Amino acid sequence: MPAHIENYLPRANLLQGRVILVSGAGAGIGAEAARTCARFGATVVLVGRTQKKLEAVYDAIVAAGGPQPAIFVMDFAKAQGDDYQNLHDGLEQEFGRLDGLLNNASVLGARSPIEHHDIKTWLETIHINLNAPFILTKTLLPLLHKSADASIVFTSSGVGRKGKAFWGAYAVSKFGTEGLMQTLADELTDIRVNCINPGATRTAMRKAAYPGEDPNRLKTPAEIMAPYLYLLGPDSKGLTGRSIDCQ
Ligand SMILES: NC(=O)c1ccc[n+]([C@@H]2O[C@H](COP(=O)([O-])OP(=O)(O)OC[C@H]3O[C@@H](n4cnc5c(N)ncnc54)[C@H](OP(=O)(O)O)[C@@H]3O)[C@@H](O)[C@H]2O)c1
Repeated sequence: MPAHIENYLPRANLLQGRVILVSGAGAGIGAEAARTCARFGATVVLVGRTQKKLEAVYDAIVAAGGPQPAIFVMDFAKAQGDDYQNLHDGLEQEFGRLDGLLNNASVLGARSPIEHHDIKTWLETIHINLNAPFILTKTLLPLLHKSADASIVFTSSGVGRKGKAFWGAYAVSKFGTEGLMQTLADELTDIRVNCINPGATRTAMRKAAYPGEDPNRLKTPAEIMAPYLYLLGPDSKGLTGRSIDCQ
């Protein structure tokens, strides 16, 4: 791993020929990751809950001359086993394999003390942030095994490593994500599995968590893309079970 991963310099065709799925690809870091992967040559599978947002990312990729992406609209709060299987079957038919899986979609849930945490919000936050990446990854593993160099990336957070007051189900879901990543990394020999922690980044989620903060002091999603490219591309071959900070 480069000593300063945030300064990793990817070559222009780094992801050429790769098929990479990005969840939560319609906004924030996921939208930027999707556009960036396409710019470096990947065919990107855009997964998210809001069709219009996914279409805007699709249009931007095509307008920039990137490989034609695919769109799968999926709400992880509601999706059932069949929906995940349909996604698997669609990808199998279209591409026959998957080279990269970026589990990025998440919700902030409630900023609340555990004592007063709304139970329904707790369950939904854990479901979207932890259960859904498990189901998505588990369902797509057969396609990842078919790749010559597959990489799975889960998205963590600083509050997923050290408990912090009032971060509630979001923090617990990210602790779970770290555990899921480590368990899977220990089980798989042909696929690398890592976590990425974006750090404070200028998105709608960050704004909701820190409404009083000046967003101009934060890195933009575009400014934290180097570690994403490193983990999803061939240069991270052999690196697994790690939790990487973008900042
Ligand atoms: N921004 C930060 O400072 C920061 C720091 C640490 C970790 N992270 C992590 O980085 C990742 C991206 O965060 P972000 O800041 O880019 O957040 P964001 O701007 O709120 O974007 C989240 C994305 O997830 C999608 N999503 C949410 N619920 C979904 C559901 N039920 N089904 C399908 N898609 C769903 C959203 O879709 P819609 O747009 O359609 O709602 C959106 O595209 C998250 O895992 C977050 O926990 C962010």
